[in-house]
Amino acid sequence: MAKFSLFFLSLVTIVCASPHVYRDLQVHESRSSVPSGFTKVGAASEDQQLTLRLGLVQSDFAGLEKALYAVSTPSSDQYGQHLSKEEVEQFVAPAPESVSAVKDWLQANNLTSATISPAGDWLSIQTTVKQANAMFDTQFSTFTHEKTNTQSVRTMQYSIPAALKGHLDFVHPTISFPAPELKRPIISHPISSSAKNLTASGAAASCGSGSVTPACLQSLYGIPSTAATQKSNSIGVAGFDPQFPNSQDLKTFLQRTRPDISSSTTFTSQSVDNGRNPGGSGNDIVEANLDVQYTIGLATGVPNVFVVVGEDTKDGVDGFLDIVNFLLNESNPPQVLTTSYGFDENQLSRSVATNLCNAYAQLGARGVSVLFASGDGGVGGGQQGESCRTFIPAFPGGCPFHTAVGATTVSRSGSESAATLSSGGFSNYFGIPDYQADAVSSYLSALGSTNRGLYNASGRGFPDVSAIGQDVEIVLDGELTPVDGTSCSSPIFASVVGLLNDGLIAAGKSPLGFLNPFLYSTGASAFNDITSGDNPGCNTNGFPAKAGWDPVTGLGTPNFAKLKAAVGL
Ligand SMILES: *[C@@H]1O[C@H](CO)[C@@H](O)[C@H](O)[C@H]1NC(C)=O
Ligand SMILES: *[C@@H]1O[C@H](CO)[C@@H](O)[C@H](O)[C@H]1NC(C)=O
Ligand SMILES: *[C@@H]1O[C@H](CO)[C@@H](O)[C@H](O)[C@H]1NC(C)=O
Ligand SMILES: *[C@@H]1O[C@H](CO)[C@@H](O)[C@H](O)[C@H]1NC(C)=O
Repeated sequence: MAKFSLFFLSLVTIVCASPHVYRDLQVHESRSSVPSGFTKVGAASEDQQLTLRLGLVQSDFAGLEKALYAVSTPSSDQYGQHLSKEEVEQFVAPAPESVSAVKDWLQANNLTSATISPAGDWLSIQTTVKQANAMFDTQFSTFTHEKTNTQSVRTMQYSIPAALKGHLDFVHPTISFPAPELKRPIISHPISSSAKNLTASGAAASCGSGSVTPACLQSLYGIPSTAATQKSNSIGVAGFDPQFPNSQDLKTFLQRTRPDISSSTTFTSQSVDNGRNPGGSGNDIVEANLDVQYTIGLATGVPNVFVVVGEDTKDGVDGFLDIVNFLLNESNPPQVLTTSYGFDENQLSRSVATNLCNAYAQLGARGVSVLFASGDGGVGGGQQGESCRTFIPAFPGGCPFHTAVGATTVSRSGSESAATLSSGGFSNYFGIPDYQADAVSSYLSALGSTNRGLYNASGRGFPDVSAIGQDVEIVLDGELTPVDGTSCSSPIFASVVGLLNDGLIAAGKSPLGFLNPFLYSTGASAFNDITSGDNPGCNTNGFPAKAGWDPVTGLGTPNFAKLKAAVGL
């Protein structure tokens, strides 16, 4: 009896509380225009089902950021003392008041939520367009993405109850418009024109011969071919449906380009959102083949895990957050994660971009080096051929908590310069982090008035580093095929980091974790400075590469011996 009355009492409280507490709706986020490539069709049908994600305000992200820099800055006495899963979750878990404020409001709307992040800062709700229009004082509409002719339900502005300010960070997807096609490497040559410069032993003469292979990269960057020894070390390769590496192609690749190691060397895989191997070919596997062939082919002996994100994504950002949450939920995530996919920054709302960026900070605090290809559209965004009046920064390019890898090319005479496709520039969402302040200010003074007004001079500059991204030979459907793209550069750089981690772990030291504070300080002189070339786009020549850091090739390409010394090996 007592129990019954209590239940009844709480129901009454909710019914009484809801109308006035939640009536005061205030605009929370808006965007001024539909991003290019999308057109509005009309109001979304009221009975259409909507899955919305609610990002709750993290209790102490500033604390996590401070801890991240403490464990990632070589001069800090906490350098290398990475945080545990529980320590990271404590910083980002929402405060109990935030959880109850949001859950009470959902209950008043007869909605239940599912928790979709390990720290509990992301909730998912199922509702209808009609109810969402009322709850967020908005009008959800249908938009078409022209290039792929796919439709999505989005809005230009939404409101939340004043009582939830400080508790509810954002609602998603609302004003974010990520394109339904993720970045792919660009096949630079017809498939039949391959293999010309490979000798019988599989070694390309030099990376300037038009055929980049593991052997020429080992010689150009001084990357050792001896096998790593530490089994607790690994490189994670992110893959998104339908991309899954073909094992036979990997074997053929190793036979042709690494005859000195076992051609049965392979990867393990982990599945996120029901990711699987659909057994495709051609363009459907080119990215996965490239990423796995160059991490296994270069990071000799480093265990390799392909993390495949399926179609059942929960985050509304194509699985970009799901894969991070999946890895954060592991007690021993891979020490390196390389991803060759991305967005344009302006396709994501500032709040969603910030939340994703903060998720990379969580991985960094756990000791994971998070690397992304910087994009293939020069200053014009992540993809080639986008129309633009001002430069389009790529995402996560401008996020300060990851390492963006740009692309270079090597001429016949052997000199390395910027690849024109290399995305780089300055973020409109993220300010310049301390670790980069001197590098950016030196570049901007050297640049003078070039491109003034076309980029945000107070934004975080990217990429951070670079590696070859042109004429890179992979095996696809049994044939050697050259590909281009920063999609090549990120796995190449990831392999360098994986081999450095092997040495560190063997010496009883911590893996490198979040790289940037090291790269811009004690690591800065361990790069081949790339000082020629540029990254055209938006009807300009883009940014010129210059001495020191630049927003085309970052600090430069790796010199393994110098990096080894810089990390204390
Ligand atoms: C919630 O459900 C109750 C009982 O079915 C109903 O009376 C009430 O109007 C609903 N509230 C909302 C906001 O839909
Ligand atoms: C985290 O992993 C555990 C199993 O180890 C699983 O039960 C749980 O659902 C996972 N949580 C999230 C948010 O993925
Ligand atoms: C590589 O191939 C090009 C033609 O594509 C040729 O001119 C060059 O001499 C070759 N280099 C070697 C080392 O075989
Ligand atoms: C330029 O970057 C700063 C720092 O991130 C940001 O606060 C500002 O809004 C950006 N300006 C524009 C026009 O996007």
